[in-house]
Amino acid sequence: MTQHFMVIGNPIAHSKSPAIHQIFAASVGLDIRYARQYCPDASDSFTAVVEAFFNGGGVGANVTVPFKQLAYELCHERGGLSAHAAVAGAVNTLLLKDGKPYGDNTDGQGLVNHLQQLGWPLSGAKVAIIGAGGAARGTLLPLLEAGVASITLANRTLSKAEALIQSLRNAHPLIAQAALNTSTVDELEGDFDLIINATSIGLSGDTLPLAPTLRCTYAYDMMYGRELPFLQHFSGLGAETSEGYGMLIGQAALSFTQWTGKPLAVAELMPQLTAMP
Ligand code: ATR
Repeated sequence: MTQHFMVIGNPIAHSKSPAIHQIFAASVGLDIRYARQYCPDASDSFTAVVEAFFNGGGVGANVTVPFKQLAYELCHERGGLSAHAAVAGAVNTLLLKDGKPYGDNTDGQGLVNHLQQLGWPLSGAKVAIIGAGGAARGTLLPLLEAGVASITLANRTLSKAEALIQSLRNAHPLIAQAALNTSTVDELEGDFDLIINATSIGLSGDTLPLAPTLRCTYAYDMMYGRELPFLQHFSGLGAETSEGYGMLIGQAALSFTQWTGKPLAVAELMPQLTAMP
């Protein structure tokens, strides 16, 4: 029997999720239909589309920009949330549990899984994250669960990094006890094992004001699909680098397994997943 899935967003026409999930489904012998679902940017419309999907027998939905916070609110009010979604304040994966909407957030764990797939050591690592928006927020708990020793959150607007850490400390005991620091981007200095770019700068054409003394062994950009100045900068300083396509795959794989109960051999599928148009 065909199982139905969707990704809901605005815009949505260029989403790679349908193609990614078809490759996953084929690899485990499942017959699925995975649709791109456009939705007007309004709370009522989002709720109506989600309800219609699940009432029609849909199994699972991914949620993307600009609906991740609305999906969080829907699950918070009417159903349940995973710890990762509760801490992130955002939902990217929807399913029904006991007939009610349940939200998870697999973005941060998808990042961690990709870092581990790359062979980058996380246990005891000294990490810096640049950016303090939604993308950064979702990474803190999964990175701490993976055993990193410390996280410095650097942001153009220092007060936003401080406010984010303050709210996260209240949200989860692991974060409450963690070694967390804040900095402005230009004052971030010294040696880190891993630096992650979680800003939206890749879309703007601007570059980050990185200090000349800032160094790392590994540099990761959550963006993908083009020449990224952040990665070029650290590559020029001898760091190993990766763009964020594997994170997109990682979050999708976690959603798929949660919906279907089928584990995926993601590393083996990477050649197929990177060859997609
Ligand atoms: P997302 O959900 O992708 O994290 P967001 O919540 O809008 O998006 O956050 C964007 C992040 O990128 C913020 O940390 C923002 O810094 P500010 O908090 O100071 O605005 C950062 N950012 C965006 N453009 C930037 C730029 N040109 N230079 C430095 N940081 C930038």
